[in-house]
Amino acid sequence: MPTRDDLFAAYALGDRGIPSLRMNFVASVDGAVSLHGRSGTLGGQTDRALMEVLRAMADVILVGAGTVRVEGYGGVQPTAEDAAWRRTHGLSPAPRLAVVSGRLDLSPDDSVFADATSRPIVVTRASAPHERREALAEVADVLVCGDATVDLGLMVAEFAAQGMTQVLSEGGPHLFGSLLDADVVDELCLTLAPRVVGGGAGRIAQGATEGDRGYALRSILHDDDGFVFLRYAR
Ligand SMILES: NC(=O)c1ccc[n+]([C@@H]2O[C@H](COP(=O)([O-])OP(=O)(O)OC[C@H]3O[C@@H](n4cnc5c(N)ncnc54)[C@H](OP(=O)(O)O)[C@@H]3O)[C@@H](O)[C@H]2O)c1
Repeated sequence: MPTRDDLFAAYALGDRGIPSLRMNFVASVDGAVSLHGRSGTLGGQTDRALMEVLRAMADVILVGAGTVRVEGYGGVQPTAEDAAWRRTHGLSPAPRLAVVSGRLDLSPDDSVFADATSRPIVVTRASAPHERREALAEVADVLVCGDATVDLGLMVAEFAAQGMTQVLSEGGPHLFGSLLDADVVDELCLTLAPRVVGGGAGRIAQGATEGDRGYALRSILHDDDGFVFLRYAR
């Protein structure tokens, strides 16, 4: 099994001064992003350990509102070991959590806000419903990027201006599609689960403009349970 140290080594970041956005997904070998509507059902022990390691390295964790609505998402609480790793590397105790939403169909009572360990960020557009924006501003920092649509390039620049250069996005597929169209995805970390699930689950990227975007294989690991861990970088 890859150890935690193996994962830290295989997924080490470069110069933290250079803004970087990495995606992390798990998919079945037939390309499904979910089983029974959730992604956790596809994962395994090493996949969960990798998720913790990637979170430990990040300044901000970015998720789409769809994933928050389906998966719940509570507070981001690093393990004592990961918190110590962050301290040693001069990072804040925990990464921030940022949710991207155009419609702001989110409630201040959602666990993502109610169980937050640090104040979450809601990334939206100027044309988002005003009342919902006001309500969410009570429980989160609202970052307005763009007018009619959310400008994800501007979002990455705003994060960097606030010292959050290392962005880890945990999906979902529509957010990944938008991030691809905004041309801000530097890395793709993909866990392949040794399962064929069929059904109607979608691919890891939805809605992106078709294009031949080349990424180079940076590392490949596997564990004793048959999971494969791929790291691609631009
Ligand atoms: N296998 C995996 O690793 C993995 C990871 C994550 C999620 N998933 C699965 O994916 C499914 C959810 O898929 P999804 O595509 O709906 O998730 P998603 O990308 O997290 O959510 C889509 C929603 O996020 C907001 N959003 C995304 N991009 C936006 C943009 N550019 N501008 C404004 N808002 C944006 C919108 O919210 P508003 O409607 O509020 O405007 C949109 O409706 C679930 O089944 C989940 O379990 C799997």
